Amino acid sequence: MSQLDADLTRHYAFTDVETAVSAAMNTLDSAGAELALKDLAGLDQFHVGGLDASLKLAQLADFKAGDHVLDVGGGLGGTARLLAREYSCDVTVLDLMESYCRVGEMLTARTNLASHVHFEQGNALDMPFADQSFDAVWTQHSSMNIADKQGLYTQIHRVLRHGGTLVMHEVMAGTVQPVQFPVMWARDASMSFLIPPDALQTLLIQTGFQVQNWEDISEQSLTWLEARAANQQRTGANMNSLGLHLLLGSDLGTLLSNLLLNLREGRIRLIQTVLHRL
Ligand SMILES: C[S@@+](CC[C@H](N)C(=O)[O-])C[C@H]1O[C@@H](n2cnc3c(N)ncnc32)[C@H](O)[C@@H]1O
Repeated sequence: MSQLDADLTRHYAFTDVETAVSAAMNTLDSAGAELALKDLAGLDQFHVGGLDASLKLAQLADFKAGDHVLDVGGGLGGTARLLAREYSCDVTVLDLMESYCRVGEMLTARTNLASHVHFEQGNALDMPFADQSFDAVWTQHSSMNIADKQGLYTQIHRVLRHGGTLVMHEVMAGTVQPVQFPVMWARDASMSFLIPPDALQTLLIQTGFQVQNWEDISEQSLTWLEARAANQQRTGANMNSLGLHLLLGSDLGTLLSNLLLNLREGRIRLIQTVLHRL
């Protein structure tokens, strides 16, 4: 395992994530009944804007029933389950964290979507998939830990079929630097690799994508994040609740406050975009 992968594992899985999530679910549990996606959203929608942001982004893409979608850096699979439930897609989640894949499988079984959502542990820079094997690639808050952006988008281009859709919701570098750490995706600068939005767009076009939609959603994200951070201040990290503290630890409040500060001060921007593979 590389030093970066080891650091990311310490960051994203500060403790035994499988045990922590199982314990929290047992406390909340109503005798193993099927769970609704919104019951899990505090834990499995690991990006600014939560479930609503994923729903709005999905509306911009033209998903069809039976589409095979790859979610790169898909975490616990919250959005994969959303695309399976709302659009009848078959979704493969690729994530670096083995523990996220195992927890994701457990949550998928509890939402009765196991025949439509599958997990694969692996690195986005070395995807274990054949050329042109997906109709769409979805990726949300996953590129921040990846330095080799050219390698990442070349891999995505390779596994997408001609005319396939790339849907992205990403944290980008703002005009003010540096980023204040720690944040949700990194404890320090050694784990964080943000590029400005215009550099990303240029790279995507050079790699063989055509832009259908490109939107800077920093302002509305700021409003959402202010409410989310205030709520965290009020409630703290209750280990029995299904939240991101089960993944990131009890200093979630600090990570959220710094995220808010970076967005407010223009150190980061949030971009959502839909592109087509040429
Ligand atoms: C902030 S979380 C976002 C998870 C999910 N996309 C979501 O929005 O709920 C970032 C995810 O990217 C994954 N990740 C980071 N680097 C990766 C890589 N090189 N290959 C695959 N996954 C990666 C992490 O393991 C983590 O699950």
